[in-house]
Amino acid sequence: GRHRLTGLVYPPRIMAKSKSIYSCTECGATSPKWQGQCPGCGEWNTLLESVAEKASGHRFESPTPVARPRNLAEIEARESERIATGIAEFDRALGGGLVAGGVVLIGGDPGIGKSTLLLQALSLLSTANKVLYVSGEESGEQVALRARRLGLDTRALQLMAEINLERILATLQAEQPQVAVIDSIQTLWSDELSSAPGSVAQVRECAAQLTRLAKQSGITIILVGHVTKEGALAGPRVLEHIVDTVLYFEGDTHSSFRLVRAVKNRFGAVNELGVFAMTDRGLKGVNNPSALFLSQHGQDVAGSCVMVTQEGTRPLLVEIQALVDAAHGNPRRLTVGLDAQRLAMLLAVLHRHAGIVCFDQDVFVNAVGGVRISEPAADLAVLLSITSSLKNKPLPSKLIVFGEVGLAGEIRPAPRGQERLKEAAKLGFTRALIPEANRPKQPIAGIEVIAVRRVEEAVARIRDIE
Ligand code: TYD
Ligand code: MG
Repeated sequence: GRHRLTGLVYPPRIMAKSKSIYSCTECGATSPKWQGQCPGCGEWNTLLESVAEKASGHRFESPTPVARPRNLAEIEARESERIATGIAEFDRALGGGLVAGGVVLIGGDPGIGKSTLLLQALSLLSTANKVLYVSGEESGEQVALRARRLGLDTRALQLMAEINLERILATLQAEQPQVAVIDSIQTLWSDELSSAPGSVAQVRECAAQLTRLAKQSGITIILVGHVTKEGALAGPRVLEHIVDTVLYFEGDTHSSFRLVRAVKNRFGAVNELGVFAMTDRGLKGVNNPSALFLSQHGQDVAGSCVMVTQEGTRPLLVEIQALVDAAHGNPRRLTVGLDAQRLAMLLAVLHRHAGIVCFDQDVFVNAVGGVRISEPAADLAVLLSITSSLKNKPLPSKLIVFGEVGLAGEIRPAPRGQERLKEAAKLGFTRALIPEANRPKQPIAGIEVIAVRRVEEAVARIRDIE
């Protein structure tokens, strides 16, 4: 039927196709038709549609040519040339810009700004490069309206509203743009498969075909992928190993800041973060975001602890908030932006090594601003915000904290401690509770360092400061 918004015609659901086979994701057994149970291993719901390999009758007629391995030393090591998008924060997340023939996946919640960012990037790129925006979600008119609202230069921006994979591949081959955006991968469908657009089989096949084309032709392809509400990237997750670079949008949909983080990058560092502010003219880069994730309290409050995180090349100050409250029934543990498994571990360490008990308490922990922190250097801030909330006593003011906590109660160093301390000092923090191994050799102006080795020591030192 017709798509409600775009008016594009989807393929009829029932198509007799003989080209597809169903293979088991567990044992690899194949079946010509779908079955609930795998005929090979007996697992349920593991058969997935895929394209049957083209019959290769002549495989035995001519011998397969032998590939010739080379000495690694003979191969010239070249840095791939970058195409800067002109959006500095986007280029930073990409590891310096786009790479010819590279495939980038950009994931994120609906409405977070994926289409906006890519339209801005293509508009800037179009002044010096041939670009193509393939829209499967919005009609040409809708994209044009958006571009006008954003005040973008669209004179050289080519657009195609299309969802059929084979037609898109043929167009890319004929047009040979330098950069193409596919918005989104979930709307595409291939003739070769009878599954509906957005199904795992379609998403995987379409991405694989586009990736093959990118590698052959040198076209840079950017795929947009939606995250489902459960946080599981039903479609995009299965693509992470196919593409070269995976970027995810982070950030509260309610706040006006957006983060773009590299979680995989064959051409650069992971965890590199681009920070944007949302405006009515689109996303604008924030050059100096280190104080963005602090909530502005009038006075010190219990349960709040500021940490310095350093993922990628830039230190960020992030406020960790905890609320510990008497549980009714099963105590709950909930984290936003932090690892929930790790919280359980930290509570056990707090009990065993500092004698602080939370088993009859609900514990909620949140990283302010929708930022996601995966580095263990957040441990100490999580523990101290929890103790502060439990005792309903604010931590000392102007204090920053970082450090990893081990199961034995030891506090382990965080990488690049100096840089973290300097950034905190620059933002007016005067005290730092940090791992002993991160103690700077020379004092850092404006910040008093309290270095600790163990969890119980950290808790005691906080008590002393007042
Ligand atoms: P959109 O880019 O369409 O999100 P996605 O492609 O990830 O689903 O953005 C959603 C809406 O937010 C859209 O109506 C435009 C608006 N918006 C702004 O007004 N300014 C901005 O800077 C951004 C990012 C979005
Ligand atoms: Mg969109």
